[in-house]
Amino acid sequence: MNKFFLNLGRQPLANNFTSYYKKNQPKYNLKLFFNTKTKLVSISKRIPSKIMFNNKYPYRSSMSVTMQNSFKKVSILIKKKFKPKLLLEIGSNDGALLKNFNKKNVIGIEPCKNLANITKKLGYKTISNYWNSKTVSFLLKKNQKVDLIYSSNTLTHISDLNDVFKSIDTLLTKNGILIIEDPSLLECLKKTSYDQFYNEHIYVFSALAVENILKKFDLEIFDIKNLKIHGGSLRYFIKRKKNKKFKVKNTVTKQLKAEISFGLKKYSTYKRFSVKSSKSKKDLLKLIKKLKTNNNIIGYGATAKAVTVLNYCKINENLIDAFVDTTLDKQNKYMPGTKIKILKYSKNIILKANYLFLGAWNFKNEILKKEKTFIKKGGAFITHIPSPKIIKN
Ligand code: TMP
Repeated sequence: MNKFFLNLGRQPLANNFTSYYKKNQPKYNLKLFFNTKTKLVSISKRIPSKIMFNNKYPYRSSMSVTMQNSFKKVSILIKKKFKPKLLLEIGSNDGALLKNFNKKNVIGIEPCKNLANITKKLGYKTISNYWNSKTVSFLLKKNQKVDLIYSSNTLTHISDLNDVFKSIDTLLTKNGILIIEDPSLLECLKKTSYDQFYNEHIYVFSALAVENILKKFDLEIFDIKNLKIHGGSLRYFIKRKKNKKFKVKNTVTKQLKAEISFGLKKYSTYKRFSVKSSKSKKDLLKLIKKLKTNNNIIGYGATAKAVTVLNYCKINENLIDAFVDTTLDKQNKYMPGTKIKILKYSKNIILKANYLFLGAWNFKNEILKKEKTFIKKGGAFITHIPSPKIIKN
């Protein structure tokens, strides 16, 4: 049974950056639900994939050194431990992972044509389709069973999880391995990062929920790694139940136990998260209003998460002067749902600001390292994670 626990208000499409301010931009209710049976946490309103993931999708995986390093590291591990003859990546984006492999050994599946074209140009086989049973039938016609499927920050964007895992089950060889990486619900709740939710993030997974989904298929988790990326993610290593080559490690029980003891099986935990989120909203608004009276505030990183924050907390152009971002496709556009302009990142803009609101708080370490001069000159960052405050290091 799906039980409601948090209303994040009316939200625009989080990656719909437009070059003019669109007054009547479509907005959708963003309400969060907990399924008491499957333990899956999801948003209720499902926007068709074609509206969100098309040939104008602006998000680029390679935009941070943190992500580039993470993909490099996992590719070394994959090659060493699993030695796949053929790896398929679901949601290959701009090739941040694929680039670490030999072109003959990998296939990317990427529905956004603008992104698929980037990897195609680099010579990587990329199929510009959504991940579903139709795409798998197409691959099977070409006799392409796969011995390693990898997917990072993609499966939680697809509404029909049954079809997602059925398609994986169909395509994976007998001894095949599935590796998925997604934000961790436990970390999201611990950090009160309600902004992990936006229309693209239909689900935020816990190990408890993933284990339940896999029960329907010939698949099981055999290892879990906690990652710092994206504000705390889990990397799940999944195999066929009959595959005895890999033993189920105690990292799996450890994660499940941590989730249960935090209360991820209980509805009351989500209600508590809801109360904490609305306090975070009030406190952030109060802090920014106080600082704005005689300061210049710039948003750092025009993230989809920041879109949730701005629209939930009702932070507008009177409170944040502009955002900066290194992504070309976001520059000179507006933060969805607001009149706040996104400017091309430059040291000059940063140094003129008194405060920088950390839109990309998940890259805090990388950003603070990069902006040492700003801090030395008396500047400071504002963050809402884990609770609204000013930070200098
Ligand atoms: P994400 O949190 O959804 O991965 O988005 C990160 C955004 O922040 C992306 O648009 C790139 C941007 N960004 C910068 O502009 N400068 C930086 O130094 C970093 C790390 C990210």
